[in-house]
Amino acid sequence: MKKVITYGTYDLFHNGHYNLLKRAKELGDYLIVGVTTEHYDEARGKVNVVDSLMTRIENVRSTGFADEIIVEDHVGQKIEDIQKYDVDIFTLGSDWVGTFDYLKQFCEVVYLERTPDVSSTQIRNNSFKIINLGIVGTGRIVPRFLSEVKYVSGVNVICTFNPEVKEDKFLKKRYVLDNYYESYDEFVDKVDAIYIASPNETHYEYAKKALDAGKHVLCEKPLCFKRDEAEELYVYAKENDLVLMEAIKTAYCPGFQQLMNVASSGVIGDVRDVEAAYTRLAEPNSRERTSNIYEGSFLEFGSYTLLPAIKLLGKEYKDIRFKTLYDDNGVDIYTKTELEYDNGMATSKNGLAVKSEGNLVISGTKGYILAPSPWWLTKHFEVHFEDPSKVDVYEPSFQGDGFRYEISEFVLKINGAGRNSYKYTAGEAVGMAEIIEKYMKHRKGD
Ligand code: CTP
Repeated sequence: MKKVITYGTYDLFHNGHYNLLKRAKELGDYLIVGVTTEHYDEARGKVNVVDSLMTRIENVRSTGFADEIIVEDHVGQKIEDIQKYDVDIFTLGSDWVGTFDYLKQFCEVVYLERTPDVSSTQIRNNSFKIINLGIVGTGRIVPRFLSEVKYVSGVNVICTFNPEVKEDKFLKKRYVLDNYYESYDEFVDKVDAIYIASPNETHYEYAKKALDAGKHVLCEKPLCFKRDEAEELYVYAKENDLVLMEAIKTAYCPGFQQLMNVASSGVIGDVRDVEAAYTRLAEPNSRERTSNIYEGSFLEFGSYTLLPAIKLLGKEYKDIRFKTLYDDNGVDIYTKTELEYDNGMATSKNGLAVKSEGNLVISGTKGYILAPSPWWLTKHFEVHFEDPSKVDVYEPSFQGDGFRYEISEFVLKINGAGRNSYKYTAGEAVGMAEIIEKYMKHRKGD
């Protein structure tokens, strides 16, 4: 019996996929089809896949050509599969000519002629209108966003708004961004969605106005300084079928989701303590260290360090305490937050003028997870047990600086997929805003 194997994402199943599978089957007697997982696609930089793994598998199955369907989830798996299933022929479309010649030492490699003029990418772009995105603000974060947005198909940054900047020569030259609006209403009118990266205290008003105008909103953290404001925005967005997302990059990174899943899986038993630290020494004259009300270490990094606690222990804590060290100008340069739960606890440490180890440690009744810095762009974590010789190491893949995952999630949601995503829920975001409101009261000494 001649065994053939082929792999693909098979997103938005099309004619090209059908033809390929038909001819692959004709190459032998038994066809194995490997369908890629969402995580593996993300790791390969394919961040816009629309159909779920189950849908993609079902679509392959319904052709009737596959005798066996397997899931591909890691680099190097093709070699493993070829040996495991005793494969005679490996085949893929002609867009891959040469790429898989290294498999010739294990089996025959055949590149089949690709069906012209059809691809999942093309269908994704045609079936979903390109999203015209506007950016509020022209600060340091904007060039980073613009460098990453190009990895996500279906979105186009068309303009920026900053009441204080008529034109940004750098953004214009480097990113060919040449529409600068000074009127917010005019700006919002021109776009389908906005990314808010303006000073923290302006986020809520800008987000509210954009939602009122029927636009989708991706907003830098913190979205709001009050719990009720966050709830109001999320309820409004849901009722009006709009996407509202708080830009906490970590939440959307594939490695962080894996870390949360491992922590919730019972491997380390029940989670009892979550300790997270994120510090960065900022220049004394930087934005973060000069505006004493709406900046400072907690407002800069607290959303990252509280995220694992909120996800694993929830937002129903019994008590919360903040301790802050202030600079001479009143800016928060170091804050330690402690959360107390019925059967657990959490600590978050943030610093702008105090440096600490940037670890995430999740302690459970059977073991603990250690994710070293930069755990917030999760690339590595370890599971430890009582027996020190037993350590499980995870090396999730991570591309770029993390923005692309967040932007991709935003685009997917606008296109109607994953609206109920668990990555960072509206409830969690409202819980986060409640903590921020409590922190602001602590700052005032209430
Ligand atoms: N394929 C093909 N003809 C096409 C499109 C795809 O023969 N017009 C083949 C690919 O070469 C591959 C298989 O179908 O062997 C699965 O491809 P996949 O990457 O899932 O589909 P694409 O449409 O190429 O997806 P994308 O645009 O996301 O890269």
